[in-house]
Amino acid sequence: MIDKDSIIYIAGHNGMVGSAIWRTLAAQGYLNIIGASSKELDLRKQKDVRDYIRKTKPDVIIDAAAKVGGILANNDFPYQFLMENMQIQNNLINEAHRLGVDKFIFLGSSCIYPKLAPQPLKEEYLLTGPLEPTNEWYALAKITGVKACESIRKQFDKDFVSLMPTNLYGTHDNFDLNSSHVMPAMIRKFYEAKQNNNAVVVLWGTGTPKREFLFVDDMAKAVVYALENQLPDYLYNVGTGEDLTIKELATKIQKIIGHTGEIIWDDTKPDGTPRKLMDVSKMHNIGWKHQVDLEDGIKKTYKWFLENIENFKTNQLKG
Ligand SMILES: NC(=O)c1ccc[n+]([C@@H]2O[C@H](COP(=O)([O-])OP(=O)(O)OC[C@H]3O[C@@H](n4cnc5c(N)ncnc54)[C@H](OP(=O)(O)O)[C@@H]3O)[C@@H](O)[C@H]2O)c1
Repeated sequence: MIDKDSIIYIAGHNGMVGSAIWRTLAAQGYLNIIGASSKELDLRKQKDVRDYIRKTKPDVIIDAAAKVGGILANNDFPYQFLMENMQIQNNLINEAHRLGVDKFIFLGSSCIYPKLAPQPLKEEYLLTGPLEPTNEWYALAKITGVKACESIRKQFDKDFVSLMPTNLYGTHDNFDLNSSHVMPAMIRKFYEAKQNNNAVVVLWGTGTPKREFLFVDDMAKAVVYALENQLPDYLYNVGTGEDLTIKELATKIQKIIGHTGEIIWDDTKPDGTPRKLMDVSKMHNIGWKHQVDLEDGIKKTYKWFLENIENFKTNQLKG
């Protein structure tokens, strides 16, 4: 059983999701949360991961470490997205299992589901069709992570569980236009254009695909829920169960930021999957539901962006 003294290792605790999990656990009185940056512990190195787990003896491992990025990054670095993600998760899962860690929470992604799977996406659609080609490398790595945890659960009766978040956004997001996801990229573009006399904003694709977005603190609460309860199955979707078109999202963000210029859709750039909405009834049925609505979440994220503009190291803001 997990209690407030349990040693909880969050792999990737400096990332957007890992840091939200850390904040949430600390706020709830957990006393022994541990983590190591990629400089201190490169999770691609099996022996180093083994030594770290041996030394720190965690009761639980939460795997929020991964090489993460948008369409552009996935397209440019397929090998890294496949191999580094498999190395990171294999080392964590396997060493956790070998060294007697009984509880493991693996974070995957909604891109594990087939490109043309029926919507909303149910957990049972896993491995029923071809993947979206723009991020199949990342998706394949994540699928092997889900299956590794499922196999340990099945064969050794351990509480290894996988949570599949929808698109996440929020504080500590990545606003670097070379590697960011759609929401932070839009926030940055509209902000810069507003600073630049409401210049035209060029956005990728046709704007017609539909997407679902979950505020990262809600994701962290889902992880804490999985930590405090033994979930009955191996795989759970985590999202809001509601989606909107990318055009509708752009209009919402534009309004919140106060940009009054034109939006141009660059349809020479890929759209990705036409729709990606999670069926979250499995999580709802066991007692978790999101709390932050999209409008509130965007406002919170934009506030954090404004407070932290000075800290962005790469891709310096213009205007
Ligand atoms: N963001 C989303 O929209 C989204 C959606 C669905 C699923 N997820 C999943 O949620 C998890 C966390 O994502 P995120 O958005 O928080 O990503 P993030 O902000 O990029 O954080 C990833 C973390 O992984 C760590 N990491 C990467 N490579 C490492 C290595 N070789 N050794 C040690 N640590 C390494 C990084 O550590 P350092 O900072 O110390 O370098 C970083 O803190 C991932 O599994 C991702 O697939 C995210």
